[in-house]
Amino acid sequence: MVPNSNHSHPLALITGASSGIGEAFARRLAARGFNLVLVARRRDRLDELRREFESSGDIAAEVLAVDLTQPAGICVVEDKIASAENLQLVINNAGFGSRGLFHTISIEKQELMHRLHVIATMRLSHAALRRMAIQRSGGIVNVSSVAGFLQGPSNVSYCATKAWMNSFTEGLYLELRRARLPIKVQALCPGFTHSEFHDTMGMDRSVVPKNWWMTSEDVVDASLRGLERGDLFVVPGWRYNSFVKLLRLLPRSLRHTLVRNAR
Ligand SMILES: NC(=O)c1ccc[n+]([C@@H]2O[C@H](COP(=O)([O-])OP(=O)(O)OC[C@H]3O[C@@H](n4cnc5c(N)ncnc54)[C@H](OP(=O)(O)O)[C@@H]3O)[C@@H](O)[C@H]2O)c1
Repeated sequence: MVPNSNHSHPLALITGASSGIGEAFARRLAARGFNLVLVARRRDRLDELRREFESSGDIAAEVLAVDLTQPAGICVVEDKIASAENLQLVINNAGFGSRGLFHTISIEKQELMHRLHVIATMRLSHAALRRMAIQRSGGIVNVSSVAGFLQGPSNVSYCATKAWMNSFTEGLYLELRRARLPIKVQALCPGFTHSEFHDTMGMDRSVVPKNWWMTSEDVVDASLRGLERGDLFVVPGWRYNSFVKLLRLLPRSLRHTLVRNAR
């Protein structure tokens, strides 16, 4: 249902809304009548999206151009969450990948990854839940990855931070159920998805077979369906879904053999 007054629209805050999965969340949620807070570093991209939403309907969109690896950037978003009216959804989506053996790549870059995937997700979830617990409604989607279910060479910090996201979200899920709070939490775990992610990483997409690629829109649709059902883990696409189920059944030694033999 789409509410008819701008102020009565539910509000969604999306980090990493300037491209890929975050941008697809913004479009899908705007179409469902959400007002939006769009967070990322590239203000021009966010402003363009804001203008598009505002000109095509009665959706209000606000832009927060901040760097979420920095405490000051996180603070701006925490303050927004604390004062936002009718906040119904927070999507912790901002993220990036890197390639290379752990000891050979910049430690500073890996620290930034931990700050973005772990610290920003933790702090913004905390701010959101304080508010949602009082209003007794809302939901949080933490955009993790299939990589959160495994470890692999040249991807150590990425897999570790996404495994943290999975564990953190599962902990919240259990805690909220025990506290009988009707707030939904989801770890969204996509596989290879078309976005700017692999350009930023400098990865050649052709090494992955075509039918293992998904669109950001398909990933977001799976997440929103999962949110309606209250699913804790959402792994979009039957291939990845079966892969994760298999991974979870395999003993660690076999998982290691699988990863060692994968390209
Ligand atoms: N694409 C895939 O294959 C894939 C697979 C599994 C999981 N994921 C996850 O999906 C999420 C979204 O990625 P995507 O695929 O949509 O990639 P993307 O197109 O590169 O989008 C990443 C978003 O994160 C934002 N971001 C990056 N660093 C930031 C920072 N320091 N502060 C604030 N915002 C920041 C970027 O905006 P600015 O540059 O404007 O700041 C951008 O909006 C990530 O968490 C990623 O790990 C992606």
